[in-house]
Amino acid sequence: MILVTGGTGLIGSHLLLELTQNKEHKVRATYRNAHSLEKIRDFFAQRLVKDRFEKIEWVKADLSNIPALEKAFEGVTFVFHCAGFISFEPKDFNNLIKINVEGTANIVNLCIDFKVQKLCYVSSVATLSTLPHNPIDEENDWNREDSNTDYAISKHGGEMEVWRGSQEGLPVVVVNPSVVIGDGFYEQGSGLLFKKVADGLKYYPTGGTGFVTVDDVVRAMIGLQFSAVVGERFVLNTANLTYQWVLEKIAKGLGVKAPTRKVGHKLLRTMARLDGVVSFFGLKKRTLTLQSADALGLITTYNGDKIKRFIDFQYSDIEKEIEEICEMIG
Ligand SMILES: NC(=O)c1ccc[n+]([C@@H]2O[C@H](COP(=O)([O-])OP(=O)(O)OC[C@H]3O[C@@H](n4cnc5c(N)ncnc54)[C@H](OP(=O)(O)O)[C@@H]3O)[C@@H](O)[C@H]2O)c1
Repeated sequence: MILVTGGTGLIGSHLLLELTQNKEHKVRATYRNAHSLEKIRDFFAQRLVKDRFEKIEWVKADLSNIPALEKAFEGVTFVFHCAGFISFEPKDFNNLIKINVEGTANIVNLCIDFKVQKLCYVSSVATLSTLPHNPIDEENDWNREDSNTDYAISKHGGEMEVWRGSQEGLPVVVVNPSVVIGDGFYEQGSGLLFKKVADGLKYYPTGGTGFVTVDDVVRAMIGLQFSAVVGERFVLNTANLTYQWVLEKIAKGLGVKAPTRKVGHKLLRTMARLDGVVSFFGLKKRTLTLQSADALGLITTYNGDKIKRFIDFQYSDIEKEIEEICEMIG
């Protein structure tokens, strides 16, 4: 039995789509509420594979609920830990630690208790430092002196729990994806890029970063999980792109006007400071932090080639993937 945590999320649901394609696999997944589950039922139905959704054994389990998780772990041999919380709002710090660090510690402990054969954990490039290599790769270890976001701190803490499990004898493999692009989730994460452009976004930030297609993430996770590879981590990055390029491609695919007004790094930092002041007085929710301003205004690049030396793996064509997502949005 294969267990996928976070089966209702972007990565988890695409992973379930792929795993249920193989008739040999028995698949179980965790969910938290009926609403998310319905969303995933629709997601499978839209792809005309409702029967594959019915094949999944769903178990309701929050990462903090040990008895519920224990039920999910019964008879499990392989675990994909995709559940996690992504937020860049300072007010979410405690929740980030609870879900991404303590929740991951619970998964690791249960993997050990239930003698799971292997755990594949979805970390993030947020756990990597900018030094020593540029483009950033697996050797760019966490540096507490960097200007790390609360999200990065929580993902690093989660990854440390996985390496602790590895020290205790649990076979693990870790993937560190850059920004994941995939279809079906347009109200959150990178999906918002599609929604904002469709809604007539006028501005583009001058920075750039690494992007990886969700199909690449899923293929890499499955390839690594069912290989002999253990005790390694892999940056997953299809391409390094500027936000301007990505937003223009999305606009072209959706047949709408691309954003034309540039917002530079300095202006983004000024906007972040103003945002902090306004939110301090309770006038609005904080939407832009200084770290987010840096992420949007600067160019950061990643090297995801290590995986090709370990398993047979090729990255997909990200431009084609963006076109396909735009077609699905219609
Ligand atoms: N998306 C990216 O660009 C990206 C890049 C690098 C790394 N990652 C990492 O990849 C993982 C999955 O990301 P994603 O994009 O798939 O995120 P997502 O779409 O937001 O999905 C998150 C999943 O985690 C579940 N979850 C959240 N809190 C939970 C809790 N307390 N207990 C149990 N389940 C919980 C959610 O359930 P509900 O549906 O009930 O909310 C959902 O199934 C995360 O750990 C993230 O840090 C993502």
